[in-house]
Amino acid sequence: MAKLRLLLAGFGNVGRRFVEILADRKSYPGLSELEVAIVAVTTGQHGAWVNPAGLAPATILETYRTRGGFPDSRTTLDAVRTLDFDVLVELSPLSIAGRGEPAIAHVREALSRGRHVVSGNKGPVAWAYRELSTLARARGVRFLHEATVMDGAPVFNLQRHCLRGNTILRLEGILNSTSNMVLGAMERGLSLAAAVAKAQAMGIAEADPSADLEGWDAAVKLTALTNVLMDADIKPEQIWRQGIAQLTPQDLAVAQSRGRRIKMICEAFRTDAGIQGSVTVQELPLDHPFARAEGAGSVLRIHTDLLGRLIIAEDGPDLSTTAYGVISDLLALSECN
Ligand SMILES: NC(=O)c1ccc[n+]([C@@H]2O[C@H](COP(=O)([O-])OP(=O)(O)OC[C@H]3O[C@@H](n4cnc5c(N)ncnc54)[C@H](OP(=O)(O)O)[C@@H]3O)[C@@H](O)[C@H]2O)c1
Repeated sequence: MAKLRLLLAGFGNVGRRFVEILADRKSYPGLSELEVAIVAVTTGQHGAWVNPAGLAPATILETYRTRGGFPDSRTTLDAVRTLDFDVLVELSPLSIAGRGEPAIAHVREALSRGRHVVSGNKGPVAWAYRELSTLARARGVRFLHEATVMDGAPVFNLQRHCLRGNTILRLEGILNSTSNMVLGAMERGLSLAAAVAKAQAMGIAEADPSADLEGWDAAVKLTALTNVLMDADIKPEQIWRQGIAQLTPQDLAVAQSRGRRIKMICEAFRTDAGIQGSVTVQELPLDHPFARAEGAGSVLRIHTDLLGRLIIAEDGPDLSTTAYGVISDLLALSECN
């Protein structure tokens, strides 16, 4: 089987963890069938590096660490337009202000050239899924995105492989790790600011946590899920949003005194007027399945017409979990290579 030649766009937390796993193959015997070569890596401000014969993962890590970046100045769009590769691995940051760009342009260009795409970036799925999936089908390639929601937990793969024939009626769950972790810390008495600082120190919250606290990240994930699992064509701006920035530790203590927990809940459901979605702050009884989500964990309940309700929960995700989402998509591509 020929090796898949990867163009890796983005070398941040997830990109680096992915390359670390490739550099340490002996520790992961289950990956024996993963045959990949990184022929290019691009970043935003830290340069790029290209070698058609393949860059050794350990050398990529060492070069970035010692030089603080890569030697080439090529942009991602230029790399996607001109280089020879099999799969674009899109791991650049989500831009809510840019409505998923420039990642959408990267993905569109790769698919147009007949290259597969594996995206960990939610933007292309939330803002352009219908267009990009149609383009992928027309070019005979695949647009996969398992890492975009619930990290590497099989959400899209579950539907693709195990829910055939079902119509998904409703989706609901906790999809934003930062807000769940912040709410848990506030239950233990921390102020919102102290809880956010703790999540930032653990590398879970962004330097600017507003997208998490205001429900934007959750809305983007819910849109991505809804577009793929419910065949919708909605944008994150259409999701009704309520954030947690106004909550105080007292609010959480009062809820706890009533035997309840406050959680940020995502919901999408079918109505006569089409599919609607919301991100709301709700008080849940302690025995509710979503009330049990702790720390950075996520949980999703899928309502189907034939199989009833399924719950998938992710307990204690980390960067390896997200990198695995990328790897599971690459293994799926290896099967059809
Ligand atoms: N972290 C997680 O656990 C997690 C989970 C699921 C999904 N994701 C998604 O995975 C993606 C990567 O996350 P991350 O945590 O690795 O982000 P990150 O640490 O912020 O790293 C982003 C990387 O993308 C690079 N970049 C910026 N603009 C780029 C461009 N135009 N083309 C190519 N690369 C560009 C950055 O380079 P510079 O440093 O030079 O700007 C950096 O190397 C994001 O879309 C995120 O939402 C993350």
